[in-house]
Amino acid sequence: MIELSNVDKHYGSLQVLSNVSMHFADGEVTAILGPSGAGKSTLIRCINCLEAISGGDIVVNGKSVRDKRAVLDIQKQTSMVFQHFNLYPHLTALQNITLAPIKVLRKNKADVEAQARGLLDMVGLASKGDRHPAELSGGEQQRVGICRALAMNPQHLLLDEVTSAIDPEMTAEVLRVIEELAGTGTTLILVTHEIEFARRIADKVAFMEGGKLVAHSDAETFFNHQSEERISRFVDKMKH
Ligand SMILES: Nc1ncnc2c1ncn2[C@@H]1O[C@H](COP(=O)(O)OP(=O)(O)OP(=O)(O)O)[C@@H](O)[C@H]1O
Ligand SMILES: [Mg+2]
Repeated sequence: MIELSNVDKHYGSLQVLSNVSMHFADGEVTAILGPSGAGKSTLIRCINCLEAISGGDIVVNGKSVRDKRAVLDIQKQTSMVFQHFNLYPHLTALQNITLAPIKVLRKNKADVEAQARGLLDMVGLASKGDRHPAELSGGEQQRVGICRALAMNPQHLLLDEVTSAIDPEMTAEVLRVIEELAGTGTTLILVTHEIEFARRIADKVAFMEGGKLVAHSDAETFFNHQSEERISRFVDKMKH
């Protein structure tokens, strides 16, 4: 469970998050939408302790991101998948996936490799475990990125525009993998511009603008009974 209360974040004089309060229930799928610069990436980076918050609090399973001793625990429970994959170029796909479970979780190498092969199989890359990132397409690299996050057995998966750096024809495969994760008990928080995809899989939708959370409701209400015309217009534009 993730709880944000009155979260502020600023870089120097630039206020990037203003008084954001929201709750992510276990197993829930939340899509975060909003224009460029709204603070969407910053929000999920703060949940993952990649950025420090300036005010308020974020509590993940009872532990505050403000507590330095809790950071590793929180990062184990909240795996992140990045827009630009961020795979280690000198490691194979399999090694990218097994590195953290072996080094951070201190798991048995053979067990982790078996799990990693299972994950690669799940995303349709069973034969590519020995390839380096440069030998994989963008869509394949991103599926490895998702496997790497899942290998930590995270309770929460944070996905930041994971298809926006991929050729459109590769996007469907990555979205299919995410869709399969929805409803499996993992809490998914996805920042996305894929509006139809969000409509299909999200339980809740959050809309951010100028560092503020301006809407947060169940997906049906958000898409079908939107009272803010500004948001409806934004959603319509994203469809094209
Ligand atoms: N490290 C940083 N230092 C200074 N300003 C930053 C930093 N990171 C982000 N910002 C600023 O914070 C604001 C929010 O950025 P953020 O990346 O969270 O937006 P976003 O909603 O994810 O946008 P996009 O849809 O373009 O990815 C922007 O104005 C951005 O320029
Ligand atoms: Mg972003």
